[in-house]
Amino acid sequence: MKYNIAVVPGDGIGPEVVGEAIKVLNAIGQKYNHQFNYTTVLAGGAAIDEYGECLPEATVEACKNSDAVLLGAVGGPKWDHVPGPQRPERALLGLRKALGLYANLRPAMIFQELADASPLKPSILDGGLDILIVRELTGGIYFGEHVTESGEDGSVTAYDVEKYSDYEIQRIARTAFEMASKRNGRVTSVDKANVLDSSRLWRKIVSEMSSDYGDVELDNMYVDNAAMQLIRDPKHFDVIVTGNMFGDILSDEASQITGSIGMLPSASLADGNFGMYEPVHGSAPDIAGTDKANPIATILSAAMMLRYTFNLSEEADAVEGAVRRFLADGFRTADIAGTGDAISGTVETGDRIAGYIQ
Ligand code: NAD
Ligand code: IPM
Ligand code: MN
Repeated sequence: MKYNIAVVPGDGIGPEVVGEAIKVLNAIGQKYNHQFNYTTVLAGGAAIDEYGECLPEATVEACKNSDAVLLGAVGGPKWDHVPGPQRPERALLGLRKALGLYANLRPAMIFQELADASPLKPSILDGGLDILIVRELTGGIYFGEHVTESGEDGSVTAYDVEKYSDYEIQRIARTAFEMASKRNGRVTSVDKANVLDSSRLWRKIVSEMSSDYGDVELDNMYVDNAAMQLIRDPKHFDVIVTGNMFGDILSDEASQITGSIGMLPSASLADGNFGMYEPVHGSAPDIAGTDKANPIATILSAAMMLRYTFNLSEEADAVEGAVRRFLADGFRTADIAGTGDAISGTVETGDRIAGYIQ
């Protein structure tokens, strides 16, 4: 089969980690006889430098005309002075919106081989961790009004509006319940319903919808408590469903439990099979260009692409199996290395993982 993938390498370590994921996809293509065609397009700081805008229309079109999108990361200090609406990060938000990618799946799993890399005590993790964060991705405070205004007295006020409509909550809740019914049957909905109207609507709709899913147990939790419980008792969680900003924050927190943000993949899904796949981490300007970036989050994102958009579950299993073998054979990137471990660079890591697939 032929599959058309739009590739958006982005900035910082984005191109480095995407290059390794493509290596692994090509190994899958060879072994299983698939043809992956890549169309590389610019977004973020790279597009500002080349075209003077963070998200050129041609990039959106190329993504729309593909079967799936593989994205690295955008942003960096070079563009931090750029005004809000033109910042590199807006490209990401624009792509998510233009492509209708409302459901962001962020699995946080512990690989047994990395149990030592987690800052939590072994007794808390007790043999493993497998949480799926389902983050709403095209609404909430990211997409409400963003305003900065100056008063006549010289004062300045800025605000951002958190806004959710019933249908936006319904569709993300449906994703979460459906995922949970195929996993361990528990959804924790995270909000701030003791303070925010938008959260009270969120809680009402999610609670109403739970009656359609008799096999799934729902609990509602305030976000401050959820942030604490993730560390105190992470095994409480199966699926977490939450809004855009809370999901952003909780997924970085969950990543640390698994050892490193360099391990966490994501899938951003629209209705149907289309999806954009990207690591949870950012462009890591502090290590860009040094061959230190861990490409595993992006490689595992490519596995999610195989699974969710292309329905190639055997191939997805093969990628995940290759990552496991890499770790089981004792290889470590710098972010997950213990004292005395030999360090595998970005390129060596991709080479080895692709090599396990042949
Ligand atoms: P970051 O995730 O880029 O980096 C945080 C820390 O984690 C850094 O110390 C970095 O070196 C480390 N890290 C991240 N990914 C790693 C990897 N694969 N391997 C090893 N170490 C890794 O977050 P930040 O520093 O807050 O943001 C940097 C830039 O990235 C900002 O411009 C931000 O807006 C942007 N950003 C983009 C995305 C995205 O494109 N999806 C996500 C988050 C942040
Ligand atoms: C992420 C990032 C983005 C977000 C930024 C860069 C817009 O942090 O994908 O987690 O907040 O969604
Ligand atoms: Mn984030």
